[in-house]
Amino acid sequence: MSTAAERDYLLGTNDEELRRLQAQHNAWRAKTTDLWDRAGFRAGQTILDLGCGPGFTSLELGERVGAGGRVLAVDGSKKFADFLRHRAASASMTQIEVAVADVRTLDLPAASIDAAFARWLLCFIKEPQKVIEQVARTLKRGGRLLVMDYCAYGTFVAQIEYPHLRRVLQAVHRSFGDGLEIGDKLPHLMKRCGLAVMEVIPIGGIARPGNRIWCWIEDFLRMYLPELVARGALREEDCAAHWEEWETNARDPQASIASPPMVGAIGVKV
Ligand SMILES: C[S@@+](CC[C@H](N)C(=O)[O-])C[C@H]1O[C@@H](n2cnc3c(N)ncnc32)[C@H](O)[C@@H]1O
Repeated sequence: MSTAAERDYLLGTNDEELRRLQAQHNAWRAKTTDLWDRAGFRAGQTILDLGCGPGFTSLELGERVGAGGRVLAVDGSKKFADFLRHRAASASMTQIEVAVADVRTLDLPAASIDAAFARWLLCFIKEPQKVIEQVARTLKRGGRLLVMDYCAYGTFVAQIEYPHLRRVLQAVHRSFGDGLEIGDKLPHLMKRCGLAVMEVIPIGGIARPGNRIWCWIEDFLRMYLPELVARGALREEDCAAHWEEWETNARDPQASIASPPMVGAIGVKV
């Protein structure tokens, strides 16, 4: 039986999504660990990994906090949670605790954690403020919330020069509501929840045929566009025209696309 959070999650939790999340993590690992350094994530801390998925970040956070720290990894998907439990047990990482829960209704003790991390989670959540409020309550004074997520997606899509790609990305954008603009709102949301905004770091790159960002964008579109077609949110012929254009670009060494822009926003509990 699926949880409410699992049913709401647009991308599903099957094996294909699990594989995509691993590749996505590999593509953005260096930027992510740089954000952890900037946010002061370190040995001995208790860190909440919100919407951890299969836990690729939880395992690395487990290494970072070490045996004397704790990682509380929370996701709405039982399948992802089981995957992470198995990986953590195989690596004897008892500092990782895994829970299946909805991040909108977490009930952790006040002032009990040093830091929280949420990557590519809030873009899927219609009530991001609820999540940030709860995290702010749960953080100790001086504790940090680090969010890595999309921003300015509408502006990004409008600037895509390949017309069929632009059309499919418009459909992607519409399907997320204003979720892909979450990064633009984070400073305001954090402030409203009693967190002082310490840093907002822009994150991005350039996709060239075959590079990691190109493959990341392609992976996402191969998985998600059939879903948009099935829901009537994208015409089949527009999808087919896009793949024809994509294959042509993939053979053109001069082709390039900016990656969707993201931010890493760090808030401190005051
Ligand atoms: C794109 S994945 C990102 C996973 C992980 N944070 C990462 O960076 O690899 C989004 C995750 O958020 C989880 N999720 C979405 N809405 C949720 C909710 N309301 N409560 C708990 N988890 C949720 C999904 O199950 C999924 O695993």
